This record gives sequence, structure tokens and C-alpha cells, in this order.
Amino acid sequence: MTTQQQTAGRVFSGAQPSGNMHLGNYLGAFKNWVRLQDNYECIYCVVDMHAITVWQDPAELQSQTREAAAAYMAAGVNPEQSILFNQSKVAGHAELAWIFNCVSRLGWLNRMTQFKDKAGKNKEKSSVGLYVYPNLMAADILLYKATHVPVGDDQKQHLELTRDIAQKFNTDFGKELFPLTEPIIMGEGARIMSLRDGSKKMSKSDPSEFSRINLNDDADTIAQKIRKARTDAEPLPATAEGLDSRPEAANLVGIYAALMDQSRDAVCAEFEGQGFAEFKKALTDVAAAKLAPITEEMARLQKDPGYIDSVLASGGERAAAIAAPILAEIKSTVGFL
Ligand code: TYM
Repeated sequence: MTTQQQTAGRVFSGAQPSGNMHLGNYLGAFKNWVRLQDNYECIYCVVDMHAITVWQDPAELQSQTREAAAAYMAAGVNPEQSILFNQSKVAGHAELAWIFNCVSRLGWLNRMTQFKDKAGKNKEKSSVGLYVYPNLMAADILLYKATHVPVGDDQKQHLELTRDIAQKFNTDFGKELFPLTEPIIMGEGARIMSLRDGSKKMSKSDPSEFSRINLNDDADTIAQKIRKARTDAEPLPATAEGLDSRPEAANLVGIYAALMDQSRDAVCAEFEGQGFAEFKKALTDVAAAKLAPITEEMARLQKDPGYIDSVLASGGERAAAIAAPILAEIKSTVGFL
């Protein structure tokens, strides 16, 4: 894909290199990124500037950035077809974020639930970056005038803010400069929950390793984590409706459905009446079979950091070339000489 005109639009998405990439990232995001590559011009970013909104050890940040890039490629992102780079390579993200800090409203940021979750009781001690993080995310997307953003369900509110910022900028400056970007939130994998607590999402920052399946877990570890996953004593129901108010059971069925590209209803129909001990065995087989090639490819790529760095460098140049004329147009619209 060379120009935007030949495609259904321009896609931008990213993930933070702030720890282990996990099954939620894969099913909620990477798997869908890969599907979009043939029909959209895709830009996939390792958002290292977002990661430093909470403390990151510098040496670990470097290796986690490479690990994230390896995870994207191992999941199927093709760095020749799509653009793959790390955010800090393109200065325009920070420049546009500043302009958006002046467009976005305090009241809007005060409503962001992710800040409240991440800051917790220690709001006063949070970095200012964590607070204005959604403005940087809007800048990531709009620096490329991206039309579509594939994400998991937890990013919905940030994308609504991105549209609010685009709309306010367009109104303030009397120009339809930015598109109103559409989220793409697809399928059964959009909200994968913790294996220990069906009311919490699967997350990098959960202190329990047993809450998530990491993309670099081997088959034995995956089997152990699924065996220990919380469930209930009821058998699988005939339809997904029977999973209402059974969050842990619903999550395991959802993971199976997302891995197999089926609906929860189809999975229930197949396993109706079976207990979770049996279902967990089937889930373990599917998870191990689907994740093993990704885990192996990630490990192979990570043995060659020079290759990963060269992908990120060339991706950064391609991204900067798209961003440059857009940023020039934005600056002149704002009135910068
Ligand atoms: P991050 O790094 O938390 O997650 C990366 C992607 O994985 C999805 N995801 C999940 N999907 C389903 N179930 C889960 N348990 C789960 N956990 C994570 C996320 O929805 C996301 O799609 N703010 C973003 C990164 C970002 C970004 C952007 C995304 C920065 N700029 C511009 C899109 C466009 C974040 O922290 O994702």
C-alpha cells in the first residue's frame, strides 16, 4: 500500500512497552492489526513516550521496546507492508501533544477513568504526563490524520476524547483539518479479563503472574495458568446468555472463542453440559497451539536486536515523512511562523 487513496483509510494503533505483552494485547489488538494490513495503510507504534508516564528503568525500557516490536511482528505485522516504529523517533508526537494540551479541557481529562485507575489514591504524586496522556494519544492518531484505530474496549474513552479534540480544533480554527477517527473494536477478544478475577481486565500491571498469559509463556506455564484460573462449579450452558453473572466462566469461553474466531454461542453449543475441568483442557490445547508459533518467533527475533532496531529506524523515517506535511499544516493553522 503506497497511498491513502488506494486503501479504505489510514490505521494507527500502538501498545506501551511497559512490561510483558499478554493475551489481552494479542486478542484485543495485535490480531486485529494484522487483519487490517491488506485493506488499510497501517501505522503501528511502540508508544515509549506513553510508557514513561510511570517510572521505567532505562535499560529495561530499551529491551521492552524491542520485545514489543518483536511481539507485533511475531503476531503477523509485516514491517515492509505496514509501518512499525517507536514513538520517540518522530518528534511530531510531542509537538502536536503540546498544541493539544492547549485545545483539550481540564474537565475532559478529569473524566478519564484510566487516570483514576492508574493514579489510585496517590493522585498528587502522579506525573503530570500520566494526567495529559490522553492528549498525547490524540496527537499520535491525528499527526497522521488516521481514520481508524483498532483497540481493545478499554481504550474507547480515550478515542472519544480524540474525537472531541479534533472537533474542537476544527471549530476553533474554522477548518476541517482533522478527521473524526473511528475506533475499530472487534470480536470476542475486545475485553479479556484477569484469570484470577473476572471483574478486572487482564493487565501488564497486575502483580499476580497467574492473572495473565504472557506472549512469552511456554506451553507448561500456559497449562498451569489455565488450570489455576478461577471458574465456578456449573457446567457450560447451551448459549452465551447462560454465562451472564458468571464472569470467570464467561472470560474463559470468550478467550476460546477469540482464539478460534468463533462466537461465544458457538463455543457453548460445542461444549454444552461439560464441566470446566474438561473445558480447560480444550482451552489449554487451543491456547498452546495458537500461541506457540508467536512465542517462538518472538524469541527468534529478540536474538537479533540489530534487525529490530533497523526495522524501527526505517519505520520511523517513513512515519516522519507522512507526519511532516500534516504538522506543517497544523502549525500554520495555529499561526506559528
Ligand atoms: P496498552 O498498551 O494498554 O494496550 C495495547 C492494546 O491492547 C489492548 N488491551 C486489551 N484488549 C483486550 N483485553 C485486555 N485485557 C487488554 N489489555 C490491553 C488495548 O486496548 C490496546 O489496544 N493508550 C494505549 C496505547 C496508545 C494508543 C495510541 C492506542 C497510545 N497511543 C494511539 C491506539 C492509538 C494503551 O495504553 O494500550
